[in-house]
Amino acid sequence: MQKKESIKKEWNDAAESWVDFVRQGKDYYRDELNNPATFRLIGDVRDRLVLDLACGEGYNTRILARKGAKVIGVDFSEKMIELAKREEAKEKRGIYYHVLDATDLKGFSSNYFDIVACFMSLQDIEKYKRAISEVARVLRIWGRFVFSVPHPCFGTIIADGERTSTAKRYFGAIKYPIQWEMERLVKPFRTTSFHRTLTDYFDVLYRSRLFVVRLVEPRPTRKGLQKYPPLREVLVRPQSVIIESVKCNGSEDFSKP
Ligand SMILES: C[S@@+](CC[C@H](N)C(=O)[O-])C[C@H]1O[C@@H](n2cnc3c(N)ncnc32)[C@H](O)[C@@H]1O
Repeated sequence: MQKKESIKKEWNDAAESWVDFVRQGKDYYRDELNNPATFRLIGDVRDRLVLDLACGEGYNTRILARKGAKVIGVDFSEKMIELAKREEAKEKRGIYYHVLDATDLKGFSSNYFDIVACFMSLQDIEKYKRAISEVARVLRIWGRFVFSVPHPCFGTIIADGERTSTAKRYFGAIKYPIQWEMERLVKPFRTTSFHRTLTDYFDVLYRSRLFVVRLVEPRPTRKGLQKYPPLREVLVRPQSVIIESVKCNGSEDFSKP
């Protein structure tokens, strides 16, 4: 059984290459597909207190800050947080970063944040049920949790040593390795992800009293389609899904009509 420490080490080892990938505009699925849709869904964040959960080196954390949010970014990778802090030191945006595991947001009071955002990371968090219950704890009532994950129905996973489409092998949670070896990376790296069904995610949200209000399957931008031909695939089959949920106050009774 792979330990949490070794998954974290993978991200620490990946951090330098990840920074180049993200900051040099090489992550076009982010810039031309997922970010435009996710930030549209998040909406106006001016003066909102936002937690960027599993923030990596802080690319999207900085976007939130530029949009006027008061942002705190957390990630369990010390290296990612070091690189994020270095960027904050170069240009101050009022962002606070902490090395924290998403499953234990100690230090944050309950009912604290207006919004928790988790960009393309929940699939990498092993104990996602615990993480979602922590999100529910730190959100204020009517606060929103917005997260994106690779689309559970249309991904590629490694199951029994074989690359398989999740359209063919959907049911059953599974842990699998990802080899990041695209040419545009300065150095290849490996990480670990977890395939789960939509039902798995929705069940935990429901049990944490985070009620789903919107779901988006992003489409590429016009500019992205012109510049990056692989994005054309996303015109017929989604690459990701973004889910917005709201923390209810616990007194609602949905069992009655
Ligand atoms: C695919 S990266 C995305 C990073 C960032 N959200 C972004 O959009 O650039 C996934 C991140 O999840 C972090 N991560 C994985 N498991 C975690 C955990 N249990 N607690 C906190 N962060 C975690 C990794 O360190 C990595 O930075």
